[in-house]
Amino acid sequence: MSEKEKVKNHHWQRIDDDYGIVWLSLDKADATTNVLSYEVLNEFEALLKQLQTESPQGLVIQSKKENGFIAGADVNAFKELKTYDEALELIQHGQAVFNRLERLNIPTLALIHGFCLGGGLELALACDYRIADENPKTKLGLPEVLLGIHPGFGGSVRLTRLVGAPAAMSMMLSGRAVRARAAKKMGLLDAAVPQRQLQRAAHQFIMKSPKVSHASGWKMLTNYSPVRQLLASVLRRKVAKRARPEHYPAPYALIDLWEQYGCDKRLMMREEAASVARLIIGKTAQNLVRVFFLQEQLKSQGKKSLFTPKYIHIIGGGVMGGDIAAWCALCGLRVTIQDRQHESLARVIQRAHRLFRKRLKQPRLITEALERLRPDKEGLGLSRADVVIEAIFEDVEAKQLLFREIEPQLKEGALLATNTSSIPLEVLGEALAKPERLVGLHFFNPVAKMQLVEIVSGELTDPEVAAQAAALTRHINRLPLPVKSSPGFLVNRVLMPYLLEAVVLESEGVAPEVIDEAALDFGMPMGPVELADTVGLDICYSVAGILSKQLQLEVPNRLAELVKAGHLGRKTGQGFYQYKKGKVQKKHFKANDVTIKEVQDRLIKRLLDEAHICLQEGIVKDADQLDAGIIFGTGFAPFRGGPIFYTQQRHN
Ligand code: NAI
Repeated sequence: MSEKEKVKNHHWQRIDDDYGIVWLSLDKADATTNVLSYEVLNEFEALLKQLQTESPQGLVIQSKKENGFIAGADVNAFKELKTYDEALELIQHGQAVFNRLERLNIPTLALIHGFCLGGGLELALACDYRIADENPKTKLGLPEVLLGIHPGFGGSVRLTRLVGAPAAMSMMLSGRAVRARAAKKMGLLDAAVPQRQLQRAAHQFIMKSPKVSHASGWKMLTNYSPVRQLLASVLRRKVAKRARPEHYPAPYALIDLWEQYGCDKRLMMREEAASVARLIIGKTAQNLVRVFFLQEQLKSQGKKSLFTPKYIHIIGGGVMGGDIAAWCALCGLRVTIQDRQHESLARVIQRAHRLFRKRLKQPRLITEALERLRPDKEGLGLSRADVVIEAIFEDVEAKQLLFREIEPQLKEGALLATNTSSIPLEVLGEALAKPERLVGLHFFNPVAKMQLVEIVSGELTDPEVAAQAAALTRHINRLPLPVKSSPGFLVNRVLMPYLLEAVVLESEGVAPEVIDEAALDFGMPMGPVELADTVGLDICYSVAGILSKQLQLEVPNRLAELVKAGHLGRKTGQGFYQYKKGKVQKKHFKANDVTIKEVQDRLIKRLLDEAHICLQEGIVKDADQLDAGIIFGTGFAPFRGGPIFYTQQRHN
């Protein structure tokens, strides 16, 4: 592109090319990521006003940041909103800016690379055309429901019209992002092209100005009644399987909005703003925004060291070691996985293959990931690795023996970590000449699903080593939580009394279905009885045994009986529940509300009490980190903001 004129505003840069096309590039000042703050929107609005009077050949909107287009609205602003009127004003302003963009009487185009989320996608939707880089890093989505709201800058109105209601609602209700090729297929993009062709493609679209696309045929019909009413009830039933309206009102509000006003664009726009304004000042959204910032805090733990490992060696190819190895390879690291048994290694590769197929889809990417993961029975990778993680079985002597053997072979400066779930680091460190280099990297099962990793520091662990472990954790897209080496660390310790209380309740004659319902009613993602069955009753029994000695917990006989009988839960087809083809067989139980509340109080009290004790004992740095750990490590009802925060709110 030859440049005629370049004007730099604070956040936006304007270039007018020789063809009369205006290229607006967003480069939010003092930020690594573009978000739509007040200032960014205001400046954009002023630029649009200018263009209205100038009427150039066309407008292309793009980002100057390498990581992506626009990540969304500025979530910081959500925290400041106290009243419905304040919220409404903010949302209506955003809508007005995007309406102005839509009304420009020149061709407009969003040129997208990397993430294009929330308000960023809503901006793109207000353009005539959307073109994106076909790279898998390009992700388009409207994740507002995850913050307890739904799109508010016209996104719900425009997306349903562009791609039809089923695809649009599925995207908005799940918050899931789609890649460029899928977006092109569903009609969200006009083109997905290689990066080097982006500008040329944009130029051609503007010059040729093809007909602007929108949903046609049956997709279009989905926005009309009575199809809308029919589809709305199907969607409500689907959402109900994942979220209860009293916990998560946003998806239901979105369905109501579309059902009532889907036919009338102007009305739907007005009601969209009103609905988001109501949601955003509600408890759920405010707490979910809090959780968003807790997550940011955890992420920032990874920035304390510049450690960028490339090569990782894992010893022990069992459930955990194997899955950690596969996950690291998926995230781009070169990995060697060592185990004494050929069969274990074969199983690791099989499971990894399944994970790669599911996540990567494209054969070339799957092959590349498999090439990064090498079985290594002899342990040849040990001396070359930047990071070594021990994940053999939970036995002090076996682990100490291994550490004695491997320490002299480690590369200078290599990070040495253990995935132990219960052995104090000080005990393992006794086997090392340099115990200060040992850190715990406590992953949770299943590794691919559980976001949290506890970074365990013993008394001797060098803080720089812990910082490196946190950096590694971010490198593989997990959330690091620094914890003190103490029985059960944080997550298992807080979870165990709650699980054991469930077992006690069951032995007192309360049906497992009622116990689980009480937890679900509180907002837990899975009831404690089903959770225990899923983890495996043998594992629960063993962890409970270890913790009981240190924390004076009583392990109910019922757990020992089931383990002795070989009823280990889901994996054996029988635990507290029966399982058919892996599916839990629950009876329909109708307990009255009082029973549910009583059971709930007993369960949750145990969890909250233990959380407070952990805070007092300094297992984590502060209440926020504790809340973050419990939410991301156990799934504790995110809309309640975390156990400590929830307790404070209840007493206020
Ligand atoms: P596992 O029993 O599935 O796997 C252990 C593997 O290590 C086996 O394949 C075994 O052949 C291999 N192994 C044993 N000694 C070895 C040696 N000297 N050299 C090479 N390979 C050796 O165990 P799992 O469940 O994967 O646990 C591993 C570690 O992770 C333990 O410390 C456990 O406490 C911890 N952990 C386990 C969790 C779980 O849910 N299973 C969750 C979090 C941590």
